[in-house]
Amino acid sequence: GRQHVPRSGRAMDRMEVTETFAGISLPGHLHTQESLGFAVTFPFRPTDVVIATYPKSGTTWMQEILTLLFSRGDVLPAKTIPNWERAPWLEQIYFREALQDTAARRLITTHLPARVLAPALQQSKAKVIYVARNPKDVAVSFYHFHRLAKFLPDPGSFDTFLTRFLEGTVHYGSWFDHVKGWLAQRHLLDIFYVTYEELHQDLRGTAQRLSAFLGCPLGPETLGALEQHCSFATMRDNAMVNYSLIPAEIMDHSQGCFMRKGVVGDWRDHFSPLQNALFNRLYQEEMGDLELPARWPM
Ligand code: A3P
Repeated sequence: GRQHVPRSGRAMDRMEVTETFAGISLPGHLHTQESLGFAVTFPFRPTDVVIATYPKSGTTWMQEILTLLFSRGDVLPAKTIPNWERAPWLEQIYFREALQDTAARRLITTHLPARVLAPALQQSKAKVIYVARNPKDVAVSFYHFHRLAKFLPDPGSFDTFLTRFLEGTVHYGSWFDHVKGWLAQRHLLDIFYVTYEELHQDLRGTAQRLSAFLGCPLGPETLGALEQHCSFATMRDNAMVNYSLIPAEIMDHSQGCFMRKGVVGDWRDHFSPLQNALFNRLYQEEMGDLELPARWPM
């Protein structure tokens, strides 16, 4: 066969194709109008559990926690099946193939805004878990992710990226719209709000609240296994969740790791005082009047 010779010293080319849907842009190699159309008309079942997040808010962490909860602490599925098969993304092209149709509880992930999914979800009585994270840390994590993910646009400098993040012109749209849209569903859906910061502060307590919400028993042994298996250190080394299996043309692993830092407050090392002031002002404008869930991170 023909050999692929990497161009020395150059960052790999980006496979940047954009799909536009419901007013937001999405990476084109993972989404098509067909896959998106399928997502918004998907027949959810009452037994489905849907993880909804804006990117970089703790999606992978929640996928792992629910995997351990559903397996009653058996680590085998988490160690042998990639997370995108255990909890496939509803809107992505491989969803139909990956979905475990016969599973008693189907675990489904989505980054789509509430406005396009709410009708189908409301009808179905599926359970939804919405994970939010301090948007300053989301912006930092998303910036670093853009550097390695070749299916996302080149982020430029952090300042350039932050401007686009605040404008809401990044892929997946505005963080503010995403969070506000899902928060507005609080009386309409069977929905559980949780934050990345809570998972950090009290993984055990949060897992117990999740088990109560899902009606899924959680004994002390399962809890111990869950805590151990869902730690940052374990997940960083687990090839089924750290995205090291993704080929270099799609994720340039020389640019960093998916499991990057896993901390709260990394924004303090990235934001200038001016960026922080601009961020705070917009946050106040967008979120100031909202009634936010308990333990909200900002
Ligand atoms: P950082 O880039 O700040 O490190 P998502 O899964 O929604 O894409 O979010 C990815 C972010 O969650 C990354 O943040 C990643 O390190 C962090 N993360 C994943 N698993 C984690 C864990 N077990 N503990 C803490 N952070 C975790």
